[in-house]
Amino acid sequence: MKKLFALALALTLALTAANAFALTIGFSQIGQESDWRTANTDDIRSALPAEGWTLIYDDAQQKQENQVKALRNFISQNVDYILFTAIVGTGWDEVLKEVNESEIPLILMDRMPVPETLDQIVYAGAFGGDFVEEGRRMGYWTENYLQSVGRGEEEINVVLMEGTTGSAAAEDRTTGILEAFENYPHLKIIAQQTGNFTRSEGQAVMESWLKAHDKIDVLLAENDDMALGAIDAIKAAGLIPGVDIIIVGCDAVKVAHEAIVAGEMNATIECNPLYSPAVIEMIKGLEAGEVYGRDVIHPAESVYDAVGGIPSNADGSLLSILVDDDVVASRKY
Ligand code: AHR
Repeated sequence: MKKLFALALALTLALTAANAFALTIGFSQIGQESDWRTANTDDIRSALPAEGWTLIYDDAQQKQENQVKALRNFISQNVDYILFTAIVGTGWDEVLKEVNESEIPLILMDRMPVPETLDQIVYAGAFGGDFVEEGRRMGYWTENYLQSVGRGEEEINVVLMEGTTGSAAAEDRTTGILEAFENYPHLKIIAQQTGNFTRSEGQAVMESWLKAHDKIDVLLAENDDMALGAIDAIKAAGLIPGVDIIIVGCDAVKVAHEAIVAGEMNATIECNPLYSPAVIEMIKGLEAGEVYGRDVIHPAESVYDAVGGIPSNADGSLLSILVDDDVVASRKY
């Protein structure tokens, strides 16, 4: 009898412990526009269920209204946590107020709403790339690379391909690029347009620029997918990408590394999509009663290129990493 009681007690304790972590998490993703996004989605969709948690995943197909619907669905399903990436910065005040009223803890990941919205809402934690710094690195790498090949005094025509208009990733990277460029008057931005973070739009925008401008020296693309689309357009125009036009991307996805090794792309600034370890740690901490600050937590990120050793930040302390076959092979996404 005693044995039976001990067994029942052990079973009850085990079930209570398991239930403490039987969480349901709603994840509102913006869509699948890029390799970065696929890596980000796959990471969350595999790592959170591996904790024994239920993940309700919603792909908004690049539509803000779908994200609003998803957030409302998560509220009606009374999930334990909401994980949210904002496709654009504005237009969230009402629905995030509803999230707050539901008292479901909100975790922000990757693209943030604008500061005016962040100031008004409660969130349990926030993880995202330092997009302004990524933009600055695109600018500093470009200037220091040009200097290293003896083109530091030449007038350089730059085309700037931006990401989705109104998104934190695009707005902030542009801010960072322009900030770095203020120091280098010989770098002239002759065209600036969105390629919406996709390969197909990157290709189309580059095609039109090549028709409109006789001399393009540098392409800055705010993600690698657009850079790769542009490479197709440059080749189709009979030019050599990476040689006739210097190409700098952002994200550091595996295909960009392969393009660097192939000599078709010159550099990519890293933006890390793998947030699952940080998200899991935070959820476990929140379950244990920990409280996190309102600052956005940025992952450590590097700069990769075809030469190595190019200073890539304001004080020159961050040097680019040479991409070779080993670096490509070790790249997870
Ligand atoms: O928000 C991160 C950005 O969104 C990535 O740089 C881009 O590839 C993605 O689509």
